This record gives sequence, C-alpha cells and structure tokens, in this order.
Amino acid sequence: MGFKNEMAEKRALVDDWLDRLIPPQTQYPQVIYEAMRYSVFVGGKRLRPVMLIAVCEMLGGDISRALPFACAIEMIHTYSLIHDDLPALDNDDYRRGRLTSHKQFGEDIAILAGDALLGHAFEIMSGEIVKKEDINLAKAMNAIAIGAGVNGMLTGQVVDVISEGKKIDKSTLDFIHLNKTAAMIQGAFKAGAYIAGSNEQTAGLLSKAAEKIGVAFQIQDDILDVTGTFEEIGKPVLSDEKNDKTTYVTLFGIEASAEIVKRLSEEACSILSGFGGKSGFMVELVQSLTDRRN
Ligand code: IPE
Ligand code: IPE
Ligand code: MG
Ligand code: MG
Ligand code: MG
Repeated sequence: MGFKNEMAEKRALVDDWLDRLIPPQTQYPQVIYEAMRYSVFVGGKRLRPVMLIAVCEMLGGDISRALPFACAIEMIHTYSLIHDDLPALDNDDYRRGRLTSHKQFGEDIAILAGDALLGHAFEIMSGEIVKKEDINLAKAMNAIAIGAGVNGMLTGQVVDVISEGKKIDKSTLDFIHLNKTAAMIQGAFKAGAYIAGSNEQTAGLLSKAAEKIGVAFQIQDDILDVTGTFEEIGKPVLSDEKNDKTTYVTLFGIEASAEIVKRLSEEACSILSGFGGKSGFMVELVQSLTDRRN
C-alpha cells in the first residue's frame, strides 16, 4: 500500500471511531452534540490521531488500543480550534472550509462545545484506563494532558494572545510555537509510544522528533497564512496580519522560513529512520508536511 492510501485508510479509521465515540445528535440536548459533531466532522487533516496510531504501530503496538486515545487527541485539538477562532481570540469566521462554531451556533454554544470536546476526551481516556487497568494507558493520557494543558498548548495560546500587537523576539516566538503547537504533537507521539509499551528513553527520543515536527508545522501554518488561498487552507488568509501577530514570516521572510521548515523536518526524519523498517510511513508523513498547501 502506498503512502497516500495508508494515510486515507488511517484517517477513515479515526473518523469511524470518532463517530462511535461522540454521542449522536439525536440525544438531548441536541444542540451540544450537533455543535461537537459540526466542528469535528468537517474535514481536518487528522494529523495528531494518525501520528498517534502510526507511532504505536511503528513500535509494534496494537492499533485498536490506540484508537480511543487518537480520537481523544483529535477532540482536544478541535476544542482548541473552536476556542482559538472565538472573537476574543483570533476572531475568525471560517474553519475547515465552513463557518466557525461561534458563527454557526453563537458564542455561548461554541464555548460549551469546546469545553464538551475537552471533557469528553478525558471521559474516553479515563474510561479505557479503568476498563483495562493498564499503567501504559494511564501514561498515554498523562502525556496528552501535558501536551494540552498549562505546560503545553494552553500556555502557548496565552503567550500568543498577550503578544498580539507587540514586538516579540525569536525566543518568545519559539516559546509560543513549542507550546501552542509542538506540545500536542509531542503528546500524540508519546501516547503512541506508551500504548505500544515503550520505555521512557524511546518516548523521549520520539518526543524530540515531535518537537521539531511541531515547530516546523506551525512555521508552515504561518507561511500558508500569507501564501495560501481560502480554498486550500479552509480558513481565512492573512489572519495573523489582521491580529498583528509576530511570526517567522514577519521576522525572517517566507524563503528563510521555508528553509527552516525543511531543516527541522529532515532532523525529525533522521530520528524516525533510526526506528528501522517500520518507520517508512512516519518518515513519508513528515516529508509530506514540508510542502503542504493545506
Ligand atoms: C491548525 O492545525 C492549528 C495549528 C496548530 C497550526 P491543523 O492544520 O492540524 O488543523 P486541521 O486539524 O487540519 O483543521
Ligand atoms: C494555532 O495557531 C492555534 C492552536 C493551538 C489552536 P493559529 O491561530 O495560527 O492556528 P490557525 O491558523 O487559526 O489554525
Ligand atoms: Mg491563534
Ligand atoms: Mg487562529
Ligand atoms: Mg495560523
């Protein structure tokens, strides 16, 4: 199976499980399930869940144990996007090619839909841990919690919003990238490793690769904010300029930023290649991100 087919197969598996794990929108009170489903099932590249299951697979783990955690990380990611788009934060009207949650349902339900996805993710993960009584699954949830919380994505978002309209230096910008974007990708990699039964050394090495992938991913996102079209990225272009954000593009220009994306991705691939024959899919996935247009 080629890379594209394998990617499509993994995405479909994640979508199928997400559909099973999020309550149906026929359940009362319908609007919250409708809003959760609206934001989850409108495209989205499913990178974090695919990375989680692919890392688990690369290390010889069982994908069916990883899928609830893969879905949980996609729910947490989707919550972060709903809140990121709110008028009080980036104030964007489109996401994944459709109206943002607050435009579709109003700010009250959008805030609650984000909260609901975050809470539901932890309900699913903790439920698996209780059912299987498995410390490796508890470690996976812990890794995801660290990626999402005040030692990760949340802190990055805080520094991102308080830096708007200010001149910030490279080290502050790197802090933002490491936290708002890389931390969740590190959570996905570490969770995949723990579910496969890996030790701390392996999880730590993979976390280093994920950090590079995450920073490169955010720099490419900032490049696409300037060079992409709405049709490609499914969200408004020039959002960063509108909000007066400092990015790699504003500090170093598009070409130098693209070079940094390439270099970080190569460094990550060389770590991944060290995992031998089964690392092929992960290496191709990272390579595919360096010149992504969506
Ligand atoms: C968008 O993430 C937010 C960033 C961290 C740059 P993605 O580009 O993975 O968004 P979806 O999930 O495909 O919509
Ligand atoms: C990533 O930053 C945000 C999250 C962690 C949710 P951006 O604000 O650049 O993400 P987009 O461009 O809106 O997807
Ligand atoms: Mg933002
Ligand atoms: Mg944004
Ligand atoms: Mg962006």
